[in-house]
Amino acid sequence: MFLDRLAGLLSPGTDAIGDQSLEMVRSFPIPEAWGGGLFQLPEPVITALLRLIQRKRLLRVLELGTGFGATACVIAAEFQMRGRGRVTTIDRAAHEPVNVRALAEHCRISPEHLDIVVDPSGYIWRLGRMIAAAGATGHLEPQFDLCLIDGAHEWDPDAGAFFLADQLLRPGGYMVLDDLTFRLTDVPDAAARFPGRTAEQLETPQMRLVWDLLVRPHPDYGRFTEIYGGRVGVAKKRGWG
Ligand SMILES: C[S@@+](CC[C@H](N)C(=O)[O-])C[C@H]1O[C@@H](n2cnc3c(N)ncnc32)[C@H](O)[C@@H]1O
Repeated sequence: MFLDRLAGLLSPGTDAIGDQSLEMVRSFPIPEAWGGGLFQLPEPVITALLRLIQRKRLLRVLELGTGFGATACVIAAEFQMRGRGRVTTIDRAAHEPVNVRALAEHCRISPEHLDIVVDPSGYIWRLGRMIAAAGATGHLEPQFDLCLIDGAHEWDPDAGAFFLADQLLRPGGYMVLDDLTFRLTDVPDAAARFPGRTAEQLETPQMRLVWDLLVRPHPDYGRFTEIYGGRVGVAKKRGWG
């Protein structure tokens, strides 16, 4: 029953949720020569997450892997419209010419609702620092209601990212993993793009490993739901809410 309820929340709806914020992000003037796609997470998945965020009154979102910033800006724009909520998004690089700062400026999103972290040491190190800061008083205070892991898509670092993000996710919060079906070989010229990887590393859907071996058997997680044809996994951390 609980599973059905979460699946229901995450299934495509007929409400207009996210329409305005998605349109704001879509209207970003993409440089002609760029040739990239702004939305790296499919729009129906972003809408499903917005529905979950709204219905469950989630206010603090952590995104590991900002990309060009579309998902972070859509969620932050929704928070801004409602007057509360904040997205913290972490990436090792600010992409050029399209990046989250340019997108946030275009959408007029204030830093109150969007915390952009560019950290060349990567999210594993950044999460370590955040955990140290959150536990500075001797008691670790989890600060996020939803965490989206959508970065390297490799066992190393994302196995570690799950456990670190878990430390910062409050009981009752949601852990979301994108690209459960992705393999490095899905990227053209994978062996050259990912030098030093073994054939197993190139061929294995590594986020699926994180989901199947770490998230699903974890005693603190339940209500496992896969959406968008099994691409995205959503798990609820046990606790109130
Ligand atoms: C698929 S994109 C993220 C898309 C974004 N979540 C969205 O929905 O629009 C993956 C991003 O993860 C970043 N990334 C990969 N490994 C990382 C690491 N170890 N630390 C920080 N960022 C990383 C890449 O630079 C890239 O921008």
